[in-house]
Amino acid sequence: MSIPPDALLDAADTHGTPLYVYDASELDAALARVRAAFGDARVYYAMKANPNLTLLRRLHGAGVGFECVSAGEIARAEHIGARGTQLLVNGPAKSDAEYAAGARLGATFIVDREEEVRLLPPSSRALVRVNPALAVSTHDHLATGAAGSKFGVTLDQAPLVLDALRVAGHTAVGLHVHIGSAIRDAGDFTAAFGRLIELRDVTGPLAVLDAGGGWGLEADLAGIALEAQRAAHAFGAELWVEPGRYLVARAGHLLTRVVGTKRTGRNFVLVDAGMTELLRPMLYGAVHPVMALWDASERSRWDIAGPACESGDVLARDVDLPRPERGQVLAFGDAGAYGAAMSSSYLTRSRPAELLWQDGDWSVIRRRETPLDVWAAEE
Ligand SMILES: Cc1ncc(COP(=O)(O)O)c(C=O)c1O
Repeated sequence: MSIPPDALLDAADTHGTPLYVYDASELDAALARVRAAFGDARVYYAMKANPNLTLLRRLHGAGVGFECVSAGEIARAEHIGARGTQLLVNGPAKSDAEYAAGARLGATFIVDREEEVRLLPPSSRALVRVNPALAVSTHDHLATGAAGSKFGVTLDQAPLVLDALRVAGHTAVGLHVHIGSAIRDAGDFTAAFGRLIELRDVTGPLAVLDAGGGWGLEADLAGIALEAQRAAHAFGAELWVEPGRYLVARAGHLLTRVVGTKRTGRNFVLVDAGMTELLRPMLYGAVHPVMALWDASERSRWDIAGPACESGDVLARDVDLPRPERGQVLAFGDAGAYGAAMSSSYLTRSRPAELLWQDGDWSVIRRRETPLDVWAAEE
């Protein structure tokens, strides 16, 4: 991280905690790594990872398109000026409003089941999402390409759905595959793309192969890119990709303040962030690196727990920390993806502010909610 610890402490003092902070240079560096690995592939950012408008505008300005899975995400993309081939509309259960918004903006649709062929707006451009029926190296809740998952059509169905799209007057531009999120083993992608390549004799050449996202932060990006390029080449297709986490995770930290400690058979540090700010540890056992922004000679291992009245509200277990005291600040790393995006107002908690660190200075890119914001729609 290139944000100095003093700047993190300043941000916590000035803007309060819990607080999300993002490093603009890391965001740019992640995009540069993707472009270096994937060459001229078209990049669609899966904005579910972090839909903050400032981050979207930065990516849009760098020529990145957006993968949207809700009317709200399509509205965000439209709000920042994305249109036409810059937009993918995806999702297993699209509403009429989502088809209509996608059609109005000229988006490309990802078709998730055969029935959708009849639901698409006339003359839409479409890709068919294929489920390669594979077990992959990630948490079960993050796997989307396993046999029996709700996503995509089967390998057998894919050529039929491509044909049905053409017959119905849509432009069937190609195939799409996304096997899950936070996938550690690049070999899983090789296996998935391999299953798609087996369809080549039946589908013939295609204009586009969308290889999805899902790249774990430690995964072999160059290896995944090579396999995706090989698959696109097999179809004579242009390569599209849809990274979410990879583009934004490393850029983000969640700052939280120590509220106190207690020993109940385990050592607990209680902090002012919890499941309402960072759900990933509770939802799928995600482990985030933790950095203490203070020093003490005595160190020991601590569980870090939040303020919610839920026994699952534990952010991390067995973390080696200098002796904590009320008021000290911890930074949870790799928190730029599915962090703020999944924060909630459960317990009438106000969603945190978000700051961007750029050229040695902070800017507020989302103000902290107030309790009034939380109940505004009820008045
Ligand atoms: C269809 C699709 N594309 C892209 C992504 C982005 O995944 P990740 O953030 O793991 O790169 C997701 C997320 O689950 C997705 O469902």
